[in-house]
Amino acid sequence: MPTSPVDYARNNRSRYLEMLKELLSIPSISTQSVHNADMQRCAEWLTQTMSSIGLKNTAIYPTPGHPVVYGEWLEAGPNAPTALIYGHYDVQPPDPLELWETPPFEPSVRGDNIYARGATDDKGQLFIHLAAVDALFKTTGALPVNIKFIIEGEEESGGKNLDPFIKSHQDLLAADCALISDTSIVSPEQPSIVYALRGLATLEIEVKSAARDLHSGQYGGAIHNPLLALSQIISAMFDENNRITIPGFYDDVLPLGDEERDLLAALPDTLLQETGARNLWGDPAFTPVERISARPTFEVHGIVGGYTDEGVKTVIPAEATAKISMRLVPNQDPQKIAQRFTDYVNALAPDTVTLKIRQTGLGNGAVIDRNDPSMMAASNAYQAAFRRRPIFTREGGSIPVVAAFQRILDLPVVMMGFGLTDDRLHSPNEKFHLPNFYRGIETSIHFMREYAKLKAA
Ligand code: BES
Ligand code: ZN
Repeated sequence: MPTSPVDYARNNRSRYLEMLKELLSIPSISTQSVHNADMQRCAEWLTQTMSSIGLKNTAIYPTPGHPVVYGEWLEAGPNAPTALIYGHYDVQPPDPLELWETPPFEPSVRGDNIYARGATDDKGQLFIHLAAVDALFKTTGALPVNIKFIIEGEEESGGKNLDPFIKSHQDLLAADCALISDTSIVSPEQPSIVYALRGLATLEIEVKSAARDLHSGQYGGAIHNPLLALSQIISAMFDENNRITIPGFYDDVLPLGDEERDLLAALPDTLLQETGARNLWGDPAFTPVERISARPTFEVHGIVGGYTDEGVKTVIPAEATAKISMRLVPNQDPQKIAQRFTDYVNALAPDTVTLKIRQTGLGNGAVIDRNDPSMMAASNAYQAAFRRRPIFTREGGSIPVVAAFQRILDLPVVMMGFGLTDDRLHSPNEKFHLPNFYRGIETSIHFMREYAKLKAA
């Protein structure tokens, strides 16, 4: 009897793992220009792999930033539905390097996990679909649906080039649904589908006072220290209930209905165990799970300024900079929020310093129709591979392309993730749980079959 695609995928686990290791070895860090050649190399690895497994018209499309990788197989014909599978081949910087147990770009299997930067976010998850396509081609010579892959290189750096690419390639990307694996599930035993994501606005504040660094004994007391001025502005962003004070910040936040509050209340709260923090923090009017998914936030990612090297240096630094982001819920407009923040900071700024605000990225949040046939196909696919129906979750992170697919291509989007919440995304020792990787491949195979059935019906 010929082997089934799922059996083939099982028999080829070690080969797929070796291929994933190759992909993870390429340091495709989109935000650092020293890695531009690695970005190109990663795009080439993907097109070559896509061609070798049997996808057609594979190509690297240049953009003003990092290239977009494309590949397709449309021979299921005009009566079969088309799924547009999205992934991102760029990764976050790996620092602090000294905290990695094995180097971030030398993938290492320990126990049930593979450790490397990008292991779950997103190389391991995007590779799942390439492996599924390979297993289907190897055993049946075809796919049950038409498939298009779009794999971008600027997701982690808030790139501005993907939206224009999508706008100018609407025919190329036309499909019946978009499928994205770039999120987590509740546990290896309990799959879940993300139905809402937060948006994001990122900005930088630069504060300058004197024309040069000054002796703090000579001038301290009469010159406003830019690090202090910056800290004062940042501390003014929160009130005593840890709510954000930017005027109008919460105006467009939709209240959570009882049904959603119940849905979120049913999710496990493992935040203390996962993070090692002493205590939880935040707005007491909302549960921790609500705060990390259905409420907007304000964060400081880094403050640069002054002397931080060994020993003492008594100086009033000439300047200080902070990198800021605000996570936004779906109904908030990132542009409007960035403007409100800018107006507020300008109003708070003392006349002892000069201040510049730079907007560095905007991304829309999204909410998804839980009743689309693609959702049903994903639910059946998880059921087949995990022997458990998925539940619905809201995700606190951002995947700006989701709103772009909805807005520009008018596509239903299904977020069929395989990560775990303790995978250490963006942190040292990022990992991917291998049982999820292998079950992910099986889930993707089932998805294509289920989608072919449901969409045709
Ligand atoms: N894969 C993540 C989104 C995510 C985060 C899913 C946490 C599940 C859990 C994505 O690659 C990501 O990190 N996005 C950035 C986008 C930003 C730089 C525009 C984010 O959310 O910070
Ligand atoms: Zn990601």
